[in-house]
Amino acid sequence: MGASSWPSAAEVRSPLQLLSDAKKKVAEMSGRDVADVRVVISPYRICPLGAHIDHQGGTVLAMTVNKGIILAFVPSCDRQVVLRSGQFAGDVKFRVDEEQLPRSSMPVKEKDSSWGCYARGALYALQKTGKKLNEGIIGFISGSDGLDSSGLSSSAAVGIAYLMALESANNLCVSPSENIELDKLIENAYLGLRNGILDQSAILLSKYGYLTLMDCKTKEHTFVSSSMLNGAKSSERANKYKILLAFSGAKHCLKDNPGYNCRVAECQKAAKILLCASGAESVDPRLCEVGPSIYEAYKHKLKENLAKRAEHYFSENKRVHEGVKAWASGNLVEFGKLISASGLSSIQNYECGCEPMIQLYEILLRTPGVFGARFSGAGFRGCCLAFVDANQAEAATAFVQREYSKTQPELALQVPGGRVALLCEAGDSARVI
Ligand code: GLA
Repeated sequence: MGASSWPSAAEVRSPLQLLSDAKKKVAEMSGRDVADVRVVISPYRICPLGAHIDHQGGTVLAMTVNKGIILAFVPSCDRQVVLRSGQFAGDVKFRVDEEQLPRSSMPVKEKDSSWGCYARGALYALQKTGKKLNEGIIGFISGSDGLDSSGLSSSAAVGIAYLMALESANNLCVSPSENIELDKLIENAYLGLRNGILDQSAILLSKYGYLTLMDCKTKEHTFVSSSMLNGAKSSERANKYKILLAFSGAKHCLKDNPGYNCRVAECQKAAKILLCASGAESVDPRLCEVGPSIYEAYKHKLKENLAKRAEHYFSENKRVHEGVKAWASGNLVEFGKLISASGLSSIQNYECGCEPMIQLYEILLRTPGVFGARFSGAGFRGCCLAFVDANQAEAATAFVQREYSKTQPELALQVPGGRVALLCEAGDSARVI
């Protein structure tokens, strides 16, 4: 675990800190000893480059941050699952031998739209893949303050936390790549969101101090180290840059927003037209199946909106590969320019985002010390991310806070605690402690 990883060693040890509080809650709920309580740490992720290309089999760059979800739990010693949340009201209860059906196939009135749907989704994924569960869990879940629904992939972090807790309670040994597929089942099959594997891959594979390069077609990944870290002691590693998260206050759950799936369908339509034009009509219609030369030869066949989606895909893939070189050579200025270009392409070509998110992106571009910025997640709500010069990070935070509060005073007040800008650092992968 890296030096600035979350939670820090101090947080793990201190009886007053969040881990201990969560453990105590589970001890109270279950009547067990605090020492028997296990904890899943599931961090949030950012994606500096590779926006909206994972579902098309593109290549993405990701890392986790030192904020996320904590799920404290004990095996329930029977088939019951009982969950309580630090953020949402009411207990969630179900049994691990209740068959779970995809939420998308349920009549509206039967859909579980409560916060418990991710836990049921985890059970669905484990059942669907034939995993035998004899034990439920008694658990308490809590997220880093105010960061849920922020475009940091809290949904994947939550889904992964439940998967890992149920697996641990049932002594199931599941590899990170298998958990990537299980979480994909929660999102795609159970919740009906047609997203890719960026979020799960980042959360399950990330390594402190590196960027994870994930090929979403082959599902192979590598870690990209940076020359700015060479020889640096771990305490100095984060000194050159900080990650600045800027919250718009716009909240709209992705699984309930048709915009995301609509863009995925448009990318597939574009892929189909390009593949048919090149005589490959039977190939799976995803843009990763279209070679760049086929794209150049037949892109004139695409109508304006589909041409823009395809242009985003091909230019973003290119930016990812250029970004790997910039990061590896420690060139944060170049890396930042690519991030901002990705943000612009998301707005102009992929046409996602909403007015407050675009305003926040523009504020970040003129913030002193910012190397580059873009939407953190899908862009329809939540937060923008920026890489910022560590020496100017505090001033940059104050600047963003001030400017966004002037531009969107009401939304700025809706951000929890009124804290529009937050500095954080790189994190590690999800784990059970
Ligand atoms: C969301 C999805 C991811 C990815 C990003 C955009 O976070 O869950 O699969 O498509 O948006 O890059």
